[in-house]
Parts: sequence; structure tokens; C-alpha cells
Amino acid sequence: MSERILIIGSEGQVGTDLAAYLRGVYGKENVMCSDIKPVSDEKLDNGPYRVLNVLVKEHIREAFKEHKPTIVYHLAAMLSATAEAKPKFGWELNMDGLFNIFDAALEYGVKRLFWPSSIAVFGPNTPQLDTPQFCVMDPNTIYGISKLAGERYCEYYNKRWGLDVRSIRYPGLIGWKAMPGGGTTDYAVDIFHQALDKGRYTSFLSANTRLPMMYMDDAIRATVEVTEAPADKILIRSSYNLAGVSFDPEMLTEAIRKHIPTFHIDYKTDHRQAIADSWPKSIDDSRAQSDWDWELEYDTDAMVAEMLKQLAPRYGK
Ligand code: SER
Repeated sequence: MSERILIIGSEGQVGTDLAAYLRGVYGKENVMCSDIKPVSDEKLDNGPYRVLNVLVKEHIREAFKEHKPTIVYHLAAMLSATAEAKPKFGWELNMDGLFNIFDAALEYGVKRLFWPSSIAVFGPNTPQLDTPQFCVMDPNTIYGISKLAGERYCEYYNKRWGLDVRSIRYPGLIGWKAMPGGGTTDYAVDIFHQALDKGRYTSFLSANTRLPMMYMDDAIRATVEVTEAPADKILIRSSYNLAGVSFDPEMLTEAIRKHIPTFHIDYKTDHRQAIADSWPKSIDDSRAQSDWDWELEYDTDAMVAEMLKQLAPRYGK
């Protein structure tokens, strides 16, 4: 029997790519998408969809009853910059949303639950280079605090209630299908659109702000691989480090200039700089490699080439 999959937050940056991938593999009827807003009729043709607010238990119950998912990907969350603007609601959405999904997953006997964590779980006293899997974690954003608390709860639900929950700490994610919404790493997506559209970009992070990043295809593959790996390979039940690549705006600019030599960047930092400064510059993901055989495919140049190729037609290039 095919798996029956429910994606919560399917209209977001990760959800958009994940839904397309999983529907290709499992068939569209087996993958129910859900998000907080109704979608266009055109999108409804892609497969089953439900409006689902993770803070409304009734919405969750209805979706679980109707679709009977064996695997749930719970992606709905408020990202770092937005959560700083709405700290109380950011915490509520990220934590209560997760608790509601935990409860439903146990009540309806879901086989596996995926929930993403983030590099935002680290903080100013974390070693910033090759950040180890286990180290000091003192996040100072609401988003980071909620992700670290969520990780602890994932492990707790696994150990105490046997819930088979899996998680990875996403680096900044770079894809062309959907825009990110309200994160600190968003510049690394926006820069491609502006490079193609205007030939120039004003970065809200400084030239040498190095952060871990990952091309979306790798992120989707990691998400599905960690979720589908045999349970005995998933030895970390909080969340796995995932390294991706590591670059700063200046290095990304150089990589873009290999394709668009006249591309110009300038810098005007804002409140997101302090958030970025508290995060690691590079990550050690040896546990993901050894536990479930994780292997990165896209380096920075391959990611840049693919982003520009995929986005060029949108800007008549
Ligand atoms: N990309 C996210 C953000 O910037 C980090 O997980 O908030």
C-alpha cells in the first residue's frame, strides 16, 4: 500500500517544492496539501488540498480523519525576522502548532512525523565554525528559542510516547519555485531575482556575513531521506545538523558574476544583521552522513547556475 502523506504548510518555501516532489513519487491523490489560506482552482487540480490552521484543533482532526496520513510533514512556522516582529504570536504558532500536530499524530497513529528545525537553534556562545551536533545552544531569537524547544519536545515525544519523529536543522534554503517568507537568509534568494531583473541588489546583510545555506533540491532530498530512513538509523531524535554550503554575500556575488559580469551589489544592513551574527558560519553534519548516509550534491557554483537558469525565463532572459 502506498504511503498517505499530509503536508502542513504546503504553500511555503519548502512546502511548495516538497509537495511537487512527493506528488511525483506517491501520486497526487496520496499527498494532501494544507495551508492557512485557500488556494487557486489551478492549484486544486494538482491534488487534494485543505485549509488548515495549526492552531485550530478541529482543522487538524478533520484533515487527519479525511486523509488518514501515514506520514506527516509539519512545516508551518513563523521564520526568524517575522517572529521578532510578533514575538508572542511567533511562539504560539511555532509551539502550540507543534503540540497540536504531536497530539493528532499520536491519536491517529501516524507512522512518521517530520518537523524542521534550523540553524537558528544556535546562538552567540555556540562555536561558529563547523558547529558540532552537540554544543552550547543559546539562541536569542524567538524563532530560535521555539525551534530549540521544539527539538527537545521531539526527542521527548519519541522517548516517552514512541512517536517516530524525525528532524533536520535547515540551513538557509535557496530555491526558485517559491519565495521565502520573513527569514534572515532570504537575501540569498532575493539576490537572484534582482540580479536578473535589475542587475543590482542591495543586501541587508554585510558583505562578509557567512552563513550555512543549501540548494532546495538538496534540502528536499534530505527531508525525504531522513523521513524514509529505517527507524534504527535515526539515532538522533532531536534534530540533525545539516551543513550545505557556506558563503557570504560577497562570495555569492562573485559566483553570480561568473554568469552576469556586470552584476552590482551594495550593502544596507538592518535588524537582521544581528540575527545573522548570532548564527553559525558553517556546520558539521558528520552525524547525518554516518547515521543515514547523507551526501550533499550542489556546491555554491552548481546552485548559482541552476538558480539563474531556472529563473531567467521569468525575467525574459
Ligand atoms: N532561513 C531561516 C530564517 O532565516 C532559518 O531557518 O529564518
